[in-house]
Amino acid sequence: MAAPAQQFKVADINLAAFGRREIELAENEMPGLMATREKYKNDQPLKGARIAGCLHMTIQTAVLIETLKFLGAELTWTSCNIFSTQDHAAAAIAAGGTPVFAWKGETEEEYEWCLEQQLKSFPSGKPLNIILDDGGDLTALVHKKYPEMLEGCYGVSEETTTGVHHLYKMLKNKGLLVPCINVNDSVTKSKFDNLYGCRESLVDGIKRATDVMIAGKISVVAGFGDVGKGCAEALHSMGSRVLVTEIDPINALQAAMAGYEVVTMEEAAPIAQVFVTTTGCRDIIVGKHFEAMREDAVVCNIGHFDIEIDVAWLKKTATEKVSIKPQVDRFTMPSGRHIILLAEGRLVNLGCATGHSSFVMSCSFTNQVLAQIMLFKANDKEFTKKYVEFGRAVSDEEVEAKKVVDESNVKSTVSRMPIGVYVLPKILDEQVAYLHLAHVNAKLTKMTPVQAEYMSLPVEGPFKSDMYRY
Ligand SMILES: NC(=O)c1ccc[n+]([C@@H]2O[C@H](COP(=O)([O-])OP(=O)(O)OC[C@H]3O[C@@H](n4cnc5c(N)ncnc54)[C@H](O)[C@@H]3O)[C@@H](O)[C@H]2O)c1
Repeated sequence: MAAPAQQFKVADINLAAFGRREIELAENEMPGLMATREKYKNDQPLKGARIAGCLHMTIQTAVLIETLKFLGAELTWTSCNIFSTQDHAAAAIAAGGTPVFAWKGETEEEYEWCLEQQLKSFPSGKPLNIILDDGGDLTALVHKKYPEMLEGCYGVSEETTTGVHHLYKMLKNKGLLVPCINVNDSVTKSKFDNLYGCRESLVDGIKRATDVMIAGKISVVAGFGDVGKGCAEALHSMGSRVLVTEIDPINALQAAMAGYEVVTMEEAAPIAQVFVTTTGCRDIIVGKHFEAMREDAVVCNIGHFDIEIDVAWLKKTATEKVSIKPQVDRFTMPSGRHIILLAEGRLVNLGCATGHSSFVMSCSFTNQVLAQIMLFKANDKEFTKKYVEFGRAVSDEEVEAKKVVDESNVKSTVSRMPIGVYVLPKILDEQVAYLHLAHVNAKLTKMTPVQAEYMSLPVEGPFKSDMYRY
């Protein structure tokens, strides 16, 4: 057992033993992470890496942290949402020696404080040299307040759709100072975590919060992207009549073809009983929608930021607010009707439940570990020769295509990938999927050499072009 961290702040360090028992349970459900530990452990590819991680401090994240540590990294950690920490997970991580600043129910100010602390708490006393982010808050903080830290930084790996959206915005505005890996758009992340993860954790959150019967109710899902598809399917499979709102005609058509009624929020507001926002956009449910809602409508958001539901309007307009329990508030409207708001409009699956299951997070986090290795080892010729999957990581053409940033003015003291936003190469994406097959009893067919020649594909993959949409 490692010595406890010198610097940390968690709700209750005495929860560490409970956290450890659940981490052990999760490890068996996270085959990708455990296999990645084994595959690269002798090379310690992250030795010398100082990773500042800002991602929901859950049990699954604890297995990610310990995988990065196992591969040589030094870490500090925070949660990327004020309600998403599992206190026993944070305690176990602190007890294991990693400086962690996270507890469930932080205030906004405490959240900011935690991010600041993690930047100065590496046990070696040195600054970060790599960032692992979810939503982009830590990346934005370091860019704005501590840009000098980015000179010695190998890059950022970003977990979610919204964070990736911000990275591309920074790249376009020429404000991005480090190379980044868009983990979200690995197929084995967004087509699994966002879809199958939310398919299970959305209803988990709503049920733990309200115990409301889903069957027979009318629900509305705003947004029919990966998250929206999973949410709509979950509600439908429990017997709810599901309405969908969309701005994109392709997604709207997909929703209609899947059998959902596609409507506007104005049409949905007076009839729906369960509201779920999944857009990553802002102002999806606003005052006029609340005013039209039925008695005890349940309103929640599963998108990354709390900008989808106008909670400020609700707080200002309601004549009364009763907190049924933490993260479940019942507002009385001037009309006398009630609205039940979950997790104050923040990620309901992490605020009211415990996020996604370990297995699907293993897919996401195996991509994270590979992204961290890729950023840190991009220019290590010996390593990339030994592990060709990283050797093929960034092609010269890709580098040329990404040259939107003039790097001549960007100071860098480390040998790193050129500034840009990259996705992991398909061979690594396929590796992540491969590592998860046995656990779900799947047996893969291998092409014969004749078949491979006919298809013009290598027998070992990659099997699809980058255009393929799965
Ligand atoms: N809670 C979680 O566990 C979890 C997991 C993964 C992703 N996320 C977050 O969920 C959000 C959605 O992620 P995604 O991967 O599904 O993104 P996505 O881009 O695949 O889907 C979002 C959809 O919303 C639609 N949309 C945008 N504005 C809209 C509007 N005003 N009205 C109706 N529809 C609108 C878009 O056209 C798109 O189809 C992001 O914020 C992401 O970071 C949360």
